[in-house]
Amino acid sequence: MEPSFQSLSCAVALFLSITALYYYLSSKPNPHRNLPPTPPSLPIIGHLHLLKPPLHRTLHRFSQALGPVFSLRFGSRPVVVVSSPPLVEECFTRNDVVLANRPKFLSGKYFSYNYTGIATAPYGDHWRNLRRLMSLEIFSASRLNDSSPIRQAQVELLLLDLCRNSSVNFSRVELKSKLSELSFNVIMRMIAGERCSEEAGEFRGLVSEAFELCDAANPGDFVPVLRWVDFGGYEKNLKRIHGRLDAFFQHLIDEHRRDRGNDSMIDHLLSLQESQPEYYTDEIIKGLILALIFAGTDTSAVTMEWAMALLVNHPEVLKKARAELDAYVGQDRLVDESDLSKLNYLQAIILETLRLFPAAPLLVPHMPSSDCTIGGFDVPRDTILLVNTWAIHRDPELWDNPTSFNPERFKDGEVEGHKLMPFGMGRRACPGSSLAQRVVGLVLGSLIQCFEWERVSEEAVDLSEGKGLTMPKLEPLEAMCKARAIMRKVLSK
Ligand code: HEM
Ligand SMILES: *[C@@H]1O[C@H](CO)[C@@H](O)[C@H](O)[C@H]1NC(C)=O
Ligand SMILES: *[C@@H]1O[C@H](CO)[C@@H](O)[C@H](O)[C@H]1NC(C)=O
Ligand SMILES: *[C@@H]1O[C@H](CO)[C@@H](O)[C@H](O)[C@H]1NC(C)=O
Ligand SMILES: *[C@@H]1O[C@H](CO)[C@@H](O)[C@H](O)[C@H]1NC(C)=O
Ligand SMILES: *[C@@H]1O[C@H](CO)[C@@H](O)[C@H](O)[C@H]1NC(C)=O
Repeated sequence: MEPSFQSLSCAVALFLSITALYYYLSSKPNPHRNLPPTPPSLPIIGHLHLLKPPLHRTLHRFSQALGPVFSLRFGSRPVVVVSSPPLVEECFTRNDVVLANRPKFLSGKYFSYNYTGIATAPYGDHWRNLRRLMSLEIFSASRLNDSSPIRQAQVELLLLDLCRNSSVNFSRVELKSKLSELSFNVIMRMIAGERCSEEAGEFRGLVSEAFELCDAANPGDFVPVLRWVDFGGYEKNLKRIHGRLDAFFQHLIDEHRRDRGNDSMIDHLLSLQESQPEYYTDEIIKGLILALIFAGTDTSAVTMEWAMALLVNHPEVLKKARAELDAYVGQDRLVDESDLSKLNYLQAIILETLRLFPAAPLLVPHMPSSDCTIGGFDVPRDTILLVNTWAIHRDPELWDNPTSFNPERFKDGEVEGHKLMPFGMGRRACPGSSLAQRVVGLVLGSLIQCFEWERVSEEAVDLSEGKGLTMPKLEPLEAMCKARAIMRKVLSK
């Protein structure tokens, strides 16, 4: 976010004279409110100048000084940040309904079809209906069972690809791009079946561009005057990229309508459209597709990349995971999704990865639809609420040696007390967690079962996080791999 905030400061100087009067007249604090503690701020930009990336680390430092609930101003918008399990519990039990709204950002007007998409829709009947639809049509256990061959096939393609240079000797691979491609292909095929291959390359480029736009916090979202002048051409870019994505999805839907199958999500949605055309419009279908791609591809891909980075840094953990796979699955067949529930150590590795590197370190912003209280402080309606799960996951009061990678801490299964919540909590919690756990489990299990893995050098892999919504790894992961005996059986199939 840094560059945009710097250019923002310059622009602010320009607009200072126009807006200062307006600002001071309109933002007199209400003396009767007991707002959470807040550090000193500047007029107009509030605390924006203090927000160095990665944001979760900056907010963690604030919470060390100000306590587990504090407030900030991102320009004109009040923000409250929560970073302790008791407060998280208060937010998502007692206050869950009030907090089940999302703040509006300009990107949602386009990418979420005027805030009708599942991730940005206001709490209410429409959103509830989308959630119900998703849990029946995509994420139910039987639908996930039906779509498991799609994921198995993509994983086998990855294994064969990796094997090409490493069947005899160790060879170096760049894993990041392979994992994001797999994640993307899995979601696309669940959505559209096999019919999505042709323009897929160009389309993936568009999706990354769209992602970057959502990432680069839009100054106009926080300082309204900049929105009126479309500072930096942000809205123009949103419009352009959304237009192209929209055309791609429309084409996909039209193709399915012409040539009906009954296996993909689009086919299911088109059947619903036939029975209820006024509700299941093409817009709603396109919004769902976009939400799944946005919420489901990068999150799973970065989680797998972090897990592999941690494993090559910890050969002793890798060895135990492989022993577990060899004991339960063996070397005669590939691991599949029905094995995952028996692989406790693999599951513990995934939990420990999500603890250290939650792909949504601040969850997705919530927003109270009416005034409420959190931790005894008043939180006015329309405040942006951020939950710093990253900080909770590394709190030394809650975890022994919080920064060390130690899957053994989960060997007894469940975790008590809301101290691990990579998928959020309450009504707005991630609906895709069961799919994510299958994808991540299957891919990691297969990579461990079929290959030996080593670092590219003596040095440990650098675990710094880069800028970005999903907490990507700063340096794309590279590792050495060499096929194990089972790959010969897979190849000869
Ligand atoms: C490791 C992978 C994933 C992680 C860590 C993750 C995490 C999260 C988190 C923290 C939220 C916000 C919860 C809140 O607002 O309190 C969320 C929301 C969401 N996730 Fe995931 N997610 C993952 C994978 C997926 C996948 C695979 C899909 C679907 C294909 C998905 C779909 C969604 C959707 C649609 C929402 C918005 C829900 C709503 O606003 O009602 N996620 N996810
Ligand atoms: C959003 O809704 C408004 C009116 O409610 C409409 O004018 C506008 O065209 C819509 N925008 C998009 C991107 O659908
Ligand atoms: C899904 O598959 C698993 C394992 O193959 C099976 O145990 C489970 O009953 C299936 N669930 C449904 C709802 O079909
Ligand atoms: C295999 O090695 C060649 C040459 O070193 C390289 O161009 C190619 O990308 C590698 N393939 C894989 C799957 O890593
Ligand atoms: C494997 O490594 C050995 C020794 O470095 C070399 O002689 C051999 O050609 C390599 N094999 C392949 C298939 O790259
Ligand atoms: C649709 O599903 C039925 C069984 O439910 C199957 O017999 C038929 O072949 C499927 N049609 C297509 C086009 O996939």
